[in-house]
Amino acid sequence: MEPVARSESGLPIKPLYDGWDLAEFDADARLGAPGRYPFTRGVYPTMYTGRPWTMRQYAGFGTAKESNERYHELVNAGTGGLSVAFDLPTQMGHDSDEAVAQGEVGKVGVAIDSLDDMRTLFQGLPLDKVSTSMTINAPASTLLLMYQLVAAEQGVSGSRLTGTIQNDVLKEYIARGTYIFPPKQSLRLISDIFAYCHRELPRWNTISISGYHMAEAGATPVQEIAFTLANAKEYVRTAIAAGLDVDDFAPRLSFFFVARTTLLEEVAKFRAARRMWARIMRDEFGAKNPKSQMLRFHTQTAGVQLTAQQPEVNLVRVALQGLGAVLGGTQSLHTNSYDEAIALPTQKAARLALRTQQVIAYETDVTRTVDPFAGSYVVESMTDDIEAAAMELIQAVEDRGGAVAAIEQGFQKSEIERSAYRVALEIDHQERTVVGVNKYALDEEEPYEPLRVDPRIEAEQCERLALLRKERDGDAVERALDDLRTAARGSDNVLFPMREALRHRATGGEVAHALRDVWGAHVPVDTF
Ligand code: 3HC
Repeated sequence: MEPVARSESGLPIKPLYDGWDLAEFDADARLGAPGRYPFTRGVYPTMYTGRPWTMRQYAGFGTAKESNERYHELVNAGTGGLSVAFDLPTQMGHDSDEAVAQGEVGKVGVAIDSLDDMRTLFQGLPLDKVSTSMTINAPASTLLLMYQLVAAEQGVSGSRLTGTIQNDVLKEYIARGTYIFPPKQSLRLISDIFAYCHRELPRWNTISISGYHMAEAGATPVQEIAFTLANAKEYVRTAIAAGLDVDDFAPRLSFFFVARTTLLEEVAKFRAARRMWARIMRDEFGAKNPKSQMLRFHTQTAGVQLTAQQPEVNLVRVALQGLGAVLGGTQSLHTNSYDEAIALPTQKAARLALRTQQVIAYETDVTRTVDPFAGSYVVESMTDDIEAAAMELIQAVEDRGGAVAAIEQGFQKSEIERSAYRVALEIDHQERTVVGVNKYALDEEEPYEPLRVDPRIEAEQCERLALLRKERDGDAVERALDDLRTAARGSDNVLFPMREALRHRATGGEVAHALRDVWGAHVPVDTF
C-alpha cells in the first residue's frame, strides 16, 4: 500500500478524493452562504466581486522621514492601506537615546519616540482616507494615542479613524518576544484599549490576533489557528470579566495569519478558522451581532519559506502563497519582497511584491466569483479535518487552564518547537524539497546589492529627542506621568492620562517606564 501523504499539519492527504468523501456533507450547515453564519465561504456576501482585498504592504525603517517617503511611494504605486513596521526600541517601550536601544534604532522598522515623530511619519497622508495598521504590541496604546492626536491635528475626529493595532501580547510570550509587562497587566491594558476604542475610536480594529509569528516559529497550520483562537478566547473572557458586553467589542477584533506555499491546505485552514470562530463566538460567548462572529483577517506570505539562495525563486513562492490567501478569503494581504531573506527590501523588490497582488487581482479570474473551492472534494474534506484537529488542540489549551496558564506551562512554545524541529530534520534528510537550497542548488550564487540604512540615523534621532526634552513643558509631562501611574495602580482606564502625557510630548519610553514603575516587567519562565 502506498505510504499516505501527510499535510503540513501531519494530517493524511489521499491521492484521490471523490463524491464518497462528501457523502455525509451537509452544505447548509457546514458552508452557509457567503457573508452568513458560519461564514465558511467568506465574511462578505460579495467578497472580491464587490471590492478586492486591501493590498497592505508592511513597511518602515530609519527615521519617520524615510518611512514617510516610502509610504508616499507605496500609496502612489497603488497600495490600499498602510502598515507600519516599528524598530525594536519602539516595540519594547524604550527611547532611541537609551543605552539598551543602541544599534537597533531605525533598524527593523521606524523609530518613533514622540508625537513629533508620529506627525512626521504621516506628513501629507490624509488620515481620514487611509486605514493604517500598526504592528505594535506591548506599547500599542501609546502609538494608537499618538496616531489619534496627529489625526486630531489634521482635523480628523476619532470616529472617522480606521486601522488596526496588533496589540496581541499573548503571542509575544509564545513567539516573537516583544512583551513588556506580566500577562495579567498586559491583559488589563488590552481591556482598557477595547473600552477606550468602543467609546472614542469606534471604527478602529483594536487587536490583530496573530498566528503568523507562531507559524514563522514553526507552528503547523492546525497549531497556528488553534493557538490563535485559544488566545482570542482569552482576550474575550478578559474583556467580559472587565464588564464589557461581547457585542460591544467583538466586532472590532481581527486576526492575522500566514499563507504557506502548500496552497490547498492553506485555503482549507482559512475556511476552517472562520467556521470555528463563528461557532465559538455564538455558542460559547453568546454573541448575537453577526459582526461579532465574523473572523476578518490579514495575511502575510510566509517569510520563513523565502530563501537567500536564488532569491528570484521567491517571486514564484510569494505568488502562490498570495493566491492561496485570496482563494482562502483574506481581507488584507502583505506579499513579501523576494529579497527579504537577505536584507531590508529594495524599492524595486517592494514594488514587485505589490505588483504580484495586482496581477492576482486584475489579471486572473479569482476575484470574479466567491469562494471558488466550495464543494471541492479535497478542500471540503481538508477543511473538516483541520477543524477537527484544531478544536482538539484548543481543548488541550483549555484543559491547561486557558491560553495564559498554558503559556506559563510552556505548552504552546514546546509544541511549536517540536514541529519546527521535525521540519528541519525533513529538510536535512532531503525528505522535504526546498528548491535552490537542498535541490537544484547553484554552485555559485549571483551577487546581490542590499539596501543599506544610513548609520547616522541613531545620532539624528537622539539629537531630535534632546531638543524635544528641552522645548517641552517638563512639569506638565511629569504631572501627566504621575496621573498615569495613579490610574495604573487603580482601575481607571489608563489611556486617558496616557493621552494627556503624550499630548504634552512625553516620549514612548517615558510612558512605558511609568507603567513599569507600577506593573514591573515580565520575566519569562524557562520551560527547560
Ligand atoms: N462587501 C461589503 N463591505 C466590504 C467588502 C465587501 N465585499 N469588502 C470590504 N468591505 C468593507 C468592510 O466592511 C470595511 O468597512 P468597515 O470598516 O465599516 O467595517 C471596509 O470595507 C474595509 O474592509 P476590511 O475591514 O475588510 O479591510 P481592511 O483592510 O480595512 O481591514 C482587517 C482588514 C484584517 C480587518 C484589519 O484588521 C487589517 O487591516 N489588518 C491588517 C493587519 C496588518 O497589516 N498586520 C501587519 C503585521 S506585520 C507583522 O506582524 C510583523 C512581521 O513580524 C511579520
